[in-house]
Amino acid sequence: MPPQVRTAVIPAAGLGTRLLPFTKAVPKELAPVLDLPAIHYVVKEAMDACIQHIAIVTSSGKGALQEYFKPSDEIDRLLRARGMNTVADEFRQMTERLTFSYPVQARQLGLGHAVLCARDAVNREPFAVILPDDLLVSDEPVLAQMLHAWQSNPGNYVAVEEVPTERISAYGVVDPLPGGQIDSRTYRLRGMVEKPPAGTAPSNLGIVGRYILMPEVFDALAETRPGAIGEIQLTDGIARAMAHTPLFAYRYQADRYDCGTPLGLLHASLSLALRRADTAEEVRRWLRDLE
Ligand code: UTP
Repeated sequence: MPPQVRTAVIPAAGLGTRLLPFTKAVPKELAPVLDLPAIHYVVKEAMDACIQHIAIVTSSGKGALQEYFKPSDEIDRLLRARGMNTVADEFRQMTERLTFSYPVQARQLGLGHAVLCARDAVNREPFAVILPDDLLVSDEPVLAQMLHAWQSNPGNYVAVEEVPTERISAYGVVDPLPGGQIDSRTYRLRGMVEKPPAGTAPSNLGIVGRYILMPEVFDALAETRPGAIGEIQLTDGIARAMAHTPLFAYRYQADRYDCGTPLGLLHASLSLALRRADTAEEVRRWLRDLE
């Protein structure tokens, strides 16, 4: 029986240049998706997957992230006075069920380096990594789906989705081991390729921002030198760890929205508003008027 996954690392120290000038003043993880900041959704996803500790990797100027998760009786009262009981209850659950820590990444040396900055917070246990740019909407949280697979076959896991051929070159792409498919969603891998040139991708499965990793990956990350665009890549560290830890891809079931770009945020907000009974009708009317 593998040990429990108790910590989720949320790297949030990036510069957010695609959302400038907004990110000049506000961390992009606090950009609203309909009525909640992007990071609220991913912390809820982690809580719903029974994670107990959230390590948000931050950088200077991102103190607002810490402020957002600080318990406040005053805000609780205001939310309830405005009938926002669901959100108030979620904050209360987060306070009761989660502990938060905020490791600092002093220089933006890449996603792999951001994860390495959370090493002490993780404490030599398997852990999850959740990228707050990738909002995944599903009945069962994607992290919970992955944890079920991980419990049957422990190792390092990357989440993947099927990507159309014309867009696959923008992704990290997994290379499944021939005959290594474990079930309809889980694949044993023999490698990964970062942003393969057109026509060379080893599969149509692109890596998306959810990972479950064994603690040995920190040693691999510490030895990983900067790769693509001069940054320490998380996928390079995970590939290095293949020497001792089996690597799997999990093809999740969810709708994904990219909250790292202005249009992606608009898409995510519109889609969530169309799913919700209290907003769907009004949004449909706007869309009809705009046509
Ligand atoms: P991105 O590649 O989207 O980078 O990082 P970014 O800086 O946030 O955004 P752009 O591209 O400049 O607009 C993916 C995730 O990794 C984190 C980011 O905060 C984001 O959640 N990250 C990236 C770090 O924490 N540190 C880094 O050095 C790089």
